[in-house]
Amino acid sequence: MHSAVIPDTWRGVTPAPMSSTDAYNGFIAANVIFALDRIGVLERIGRGEPLSAAEAAQSAASAGDVARTEAVLRAAADYGFLKADGAGYLPTEAGREVASARGYFTWAVGGYHDVFGRAGHLSAGTHHYQQDVFRDEAMVALGSAQCDQSMFAAQLTDVLDGIDFRLIADLGSGTSARVRRVVSQREGSRGLGIDISRPATDIARREIAEAGLEDRVTAVRADVLGLLGTQIDNDAEAAEVAEVDTVMSFFLLHDLLADPATRSSIFTRMREAFPKARTFVLGDTMLRGPGESQSTLPVFSVGFELAHAMMGVPLHTKETYEQLFADAGLRIDRVEALATPHSWLYVLQAD
Ligand SMILES: C[S@@+](CC[C@H](N)C(=O)[O-])C[C@H]1O[C@@H](n2cnc3c(N)ncnc32)[C@H](O)[C@@H]1O
Repeated sequence: MHSAVIPDTWRGVTPAPMSSTDAYNGFIAANVIFALDRIGVLERIGRGEPLSAAEAAQSAASAGDVARTEAVLRAAADYGFLKADGAGYLPTEAGREVASARGYFTWAVGGYHDVFGRAGHLSAGTHHYQQDVFRDEAMVALGSAQCDQSMFAAQLTDVLDGIDFRLIADLGSGTSARVRRVVSQREGSRGLGIDISRPATDIARREIAEAGLEDRVTAVRADVLGLLGTQIDNDAEAAEVAEVDTVMSFFLLHDLLADPATRSSIFTRMREAFPKARTFVLGDTMLRGPGESQSTLPVFSVGFELAHAMMGVPLHTKETYEQLFADAGLRIDRVEALATPHSWLYVLQAD
């Protein structure tokens, strides 16, 4: 089934050119939204619950600082996310909306603050990515998981409803939130979350244990590219990989396709690494076409493209992905737009 319905969330709403005042306030507001999440009040804002600095600081994991928390809440009120209510605050409609988009702020501010802040240094060559400039992998994975929960979960459930899987692997699984959810929704199934990041895998293992799913979901720390070259040391894990019947992967493919020398063979190698897998559920953010979103900008796209340029990771158009799928003998069974702009979900069948 092919569906080209583009969600409203792809619509550009930020005018370009942007004024210096909007640019400045956008930067501060993004930091304030991320701070609200770290303080632990953003979910409550999303639910429309009243809050106060004293109470938020009290319930913080370590002793919170009331004066600083109050300053963040006051700034959030200045931006219209909260409104004063006696000694505390009430969330506004705008506050509820930013709470539903929290993943973008965890991703951009939490994950890529160093990369964005050093974009000039990286461009001038005084700093180098992975030597003096790093992304925070755990925050990137957490931001993605938050987006998954608020924006993609229902759509993926619907897609997976039509797929008969017993052992599903998630490549670049981050915190494993998706594979845990998918497995707990399907009786008798098991899942394998594979991610290169140690911090993300640590979070994944902890959350799998907390959910009591250790016998059904395994978090493996591995480089998927090594896996595609079948370099797995652990026999038990290698045996599991060999039995996987369905592979999913979200927001990792552009990383796998980064090296031009191996790009054209990635999906063929993916099929070989999972010899029993017939169904591949793949999603990624793709390069905007030329001239798209020129006078109004949607959320995410510019940040995603800039961050990857700074990391030296090229991005690809939808046409390139579809050509690579076809070259690997993967037939497109279903393609749908995801809520995040320029992001597409594919169900592919290995014939
Ligand atoms: C943007 S996050 C997406 C996480 C998750 N799939 C989601 O949608 O929420 C990309 C993930 O891929 C992982 N990753 C990047 N390169 C990888 C590789 N070569 N092998 C395995 N994982 C990788 C990163 O550590 C990160 O957790």
